[in-house]
Amino acid sequence: MAMIAAKCPQYKVTVADINAQKIKAWQTEKLPIYEPGLLEVVKKALDRNLFFSTDIEGNIKTADIIFVSVNTPTKTYGGGAGKTADLQYWEKTARDIVRIAESDKIIIEKSTLPVRTAEAMERILNAKNKGIHFDVVSNPEFLAEGTAISDLENPDRVLIGSRETEKGRKAREEIVEIYANWVPRDRIITCDVWSAELSKLVANAFLAQRISSINSISALCEKTEADIKKVARAIGMDSRIGSKFLNASIGFGGSCFRKDILNLVYICERYGLHEVAQYWENVVKINEYQEGRFVQKMIHAMFNTIAHKRITLFGFAFKANTGDTRESPAIYVVRKLLEEHARVVITDPEALHNAEQDLKDSREYVEFETDPYKATQHAHAIAIMTEWELYKTLDYKKIFENMEKPAFLFDGRNILDHQKIHEIGFNVYPIGKSPLTHF
Ligand code: UGA
Repeated sequence: MAMIAAKCPQYKVTVADINAQKIKAWQTEKLPIYEPGLLEVVKKALDRNLFFSTDIEGNIKTADIIFVSVNTPTKTYGGGAGKTADLQYWEKTARDIVRIAESDKIIIEKSTLPVRTAEAMERILNAKNKGIHFDVVSNPEFLAEGTAISDLENPDRVLIGSRETEKGRKAREEIVEIYANWVPRDRIITCDVWSAELSKLVANAFLAQRISSINSISALCEKTEADIKKVARAIGMDSRIGSKFLNASIGFGGSCFRKDILNLVYICERYGLHEVAQYWENVVKINEYQEGRFVQKMIHAMFNTIAHKRITLFGFAFKANTGDTRESPAIYVVRKLLEEHARVVITDPEALHNAEQDLKDSREYVEFETDPYKATQHAHAIAIMTEWELYKTLDYKKIFENMEKPAFLFDGRNILDHQKIHEIGFNVYPIGKSPLTHF
């Protein structure tokens, strides 16, 4: 919304949320989330045409267009538990809108939702015949965290779906007008609501599928002395495949991939498409396999016991340039290491606060340290969880000197020069490459 406000001074944008603390923080220098470049965009429009408010009712009344971006986490109870999206917040918002609205409105689905949600929402919205008309438009978001600002400023595409009726098309056109302030028209694509909703889930499923594909091959590389980076480079140069999203890793994290794929799986199952459901579910399974394999490799390399060994994790965020730790593979890795009675130290430039929250139940066994040099003192091993630039530029010689020997380094992101690190004295275990050891 900050980007829309910054690019379109002729619109008044108000972000309304029930969380007063967050609403307050958005109006300070310390935003509630870390996202490179975001502060500048917010500042540009703040109090000009971008406002933050906790007055949900008042803002529903005055708005012509409402972007609904409430959370749709994976349902944890009842039918579809663990797979389908929990729509209770979305439905509650729809009911609030009907209750409060006094004029026609365009309602935009911004949250990622299962296919055909808009239809249900439209029914709820238009059920109470107050003489008010609501158009529901789907406008899924494709930005990725850490690169949100450039993704928004220069999107590959903007997708807007509506009903193919006269009113629906008119509503859609109003949303196209907003984006057309800075996005070239040929990158704004329109379609029916269902295709828009499904495209969002499928885009994430395809991206995640690439990571699971390359990660599955990383396991094979480790057995055959092939090098995953070389394989990825060779296949990525085929323009039909392309070079992006082929970095083998400890596995994908984040709030979207797992949730959206399982959502897709659930939808397929509901339509009786069991093979299709299984196909996509395996993308998630390979991800779990990759996380599990990483920890197993650590234990095995360190003489089959890590009890009481100090192990330092470099990074806890699910990827670089964000403090977000939702579904971060690091959470799984820490839990497994603790099960083996290791002493875990976590360092991360932006995610330590979230890490402490995630590991609330096992805080006494985990140390949180901002300084990577202190974090590695007397450590037996380092495991790189997040590809922060910072970890590429540390003085590994100095780090090595202060560690227990033999010293191990497990590069879960393949970001270091493994040869160099090996020469310093480390036993190095990359992803999808043969280890470089001194024994
Ligand atoms: C993802 C999609 O990329 C966005 O297009 C989408 O809008 C967003 O989900 C969403 O649904 O909101 P995001 O979760 O922010 O964005 O992050 P990604 O950059 O996609 O990374 C996801 C995970 O995959 C991270 O853990 C990352 O480290 C991992 N990854 C990514 C790899 O392991 N290898 C790669 O080559 C690329």
